Amino acid sequence: MSIVAIDQGTTSTRAIRFDAAAAIEASASRDLPQHYPRPGWVEQDPEHIWQGALATLRDVLTHDVAAIGIANQRETILLWDRATGKTLHNAIVWQDRRTADRCAALLAEGMEPMVRARTGLLLDPYFSATKLGWLLDTIPDARARAERGELAAGTVDSFLLWRLTGGRIHATDLTNASRTLLYNIVTEQWDDDLLRLFAIPRALLPDVHANAHIFGTTDPAIVGRAIPIAGMAGDQQAALIGQRCFAPGQIKSTYGTGCFLLSNIGTMPTLSDKRLLTTIGYRIGQERAYAMEGSIFIAGAAIKWLRDTMGIIDSAEDSAHLAASVPADHGVHLIPAFVGLGAPRWRTDVRASITGLTLDTGPAHIVRAALEAVAFQTCDLVEAMAGEDIAPPAMLRIDGGMATNDWFAQFLADMMGLPVERPASHESTALGAAFLAGITVGLWPDLAALDQLSRETRSFTPAADADRAVSLRRWRKVVQQALAAGV
Ligand code: G3P
Repeated sequence: MSIVAIDQGTTSTRAIRFDAAAAIEASASRDLPQHYPRPGWVEQDPEHIWQGALATLRDVLTHDVAAIGIANQRETILLWDRATGKTLHNAIVWQDRRTADRCAALLAEGMEPMVRARTGLLLDPYFSATKLGWLLDTIPDARARAERGELAAGTVDSFLLWRLTGGRIHATDLTNASRTLLYNIVTEQWDDDLLRLFAIPRALLPDVHANAHIFGTTDPAIVGRAIPIAGMAGDQQAALIGQRCFAPGQIKSTYGTGCFLLSNIGTMPTLSDKRLLTTIGYRIGQERAYAMEGSIFIAGAAIKWLRDTMGIIDSAEDSAHLAASVPADHGVHLIPAFVGLGAPRWRTDVRASITGLTLDTGPAHIVRAALEAVAFQTCDLVEAMAGEDIAPPAMLRIDGGMATNDWFAQFLADMMGLPVERPASHESTALGAAFLAGITVGLWPDLAALDQLSRETRSFTPAADADRAVSLRRWRKVVQQALAAGV
């Protein structure tokens, strides 16, 4: 028996087939193009999302696949016609800042404490609600049609589920729901007051289920047979599960397009004092956990920018040896605020900058500064979490594309003063989705069984002589300057 996980991320879609020992049997991948219609706007073509998921799924599907799990880029929102299945607009991506003014207006009206108490989130354009409001206000007739129940809205999991089931099922899981600003994470319901505040008709929204659940079965016309879609979770929560952070204080950081650090905080939705997010970690049968999250919008995306837009590097792999070729006190800083800054600063108005340039600054300095910035931002999140009333971490588990860079992993450990542990496979997100589907169909009985599966890891221990304090002080000074310039 094997399980296929679809990992629909921001810039690529992967499908991976796992065996009963959670080893990878096959994988397939497709890039997902991004569209930037205006500065700060980020969109994706829904058909590219769908075709990428379908093609990768077909590539790895075999007769012994017992179930499918889905992990997805969170918050990205789609709107489609229930009768035809056609979308009404491009997907508006989580990084998109077009609703910054709407969020600022709600903030000025004093709405944040209520929103925060119910959702664990902040009033920021990152989340889905204001993006969905923008679609309803912008597309002719959309609001009236939504109220008549003719349209469906959903995050990417929900859209893929709809398409895979041939338009029969409109559902999501509670981790994805918890990122919309419309879902109450305490009562585990869509919240009527929030629906009113963001002017979202209830008829648009999917049913919400726990993570390990038969959400539906594939339409045989699409993949040849009816296979249960038996697990779904937002990609960061899926990575939390894939990294087996099942106890309070266990913490992971995933370096994909952005970087998302989640700490298991147990069964109470403790709110942060440091502008971190509280979100649903998972619900699997009787097992449940909330997570505290620090969200950094740009991680691998900075390396992609250096490669694809600036042409400074040929491949992401080049970044490790280039970074190592530059002395530690090089003085160059890159503030990767390409779409503003996320946690813990939450500033939509700041833009990216490179400082400290001299005539001998070369590509290697800029590459190193980009990698350092991601590590420094992780340190800022870990430090913010240290001030919270939650279990402290003993180490940080990392995964995602950038985590394969040994130089980065060591630098991160040095700057945090905390050990870093990296699994041999960096596909923790897909693994988490596979775990969910596998639990549902009985391949694994429970979370404890997942913990027993063999797991090869490599540890990076902080160097005793790392100049942590000085480096962080310099970084924070440059960030303060960027924040001041952004006003
Ligand atoms: O919240 C956005 C996040 O889910 C995107 O993840 O892996 O595509 O950077 P990733």
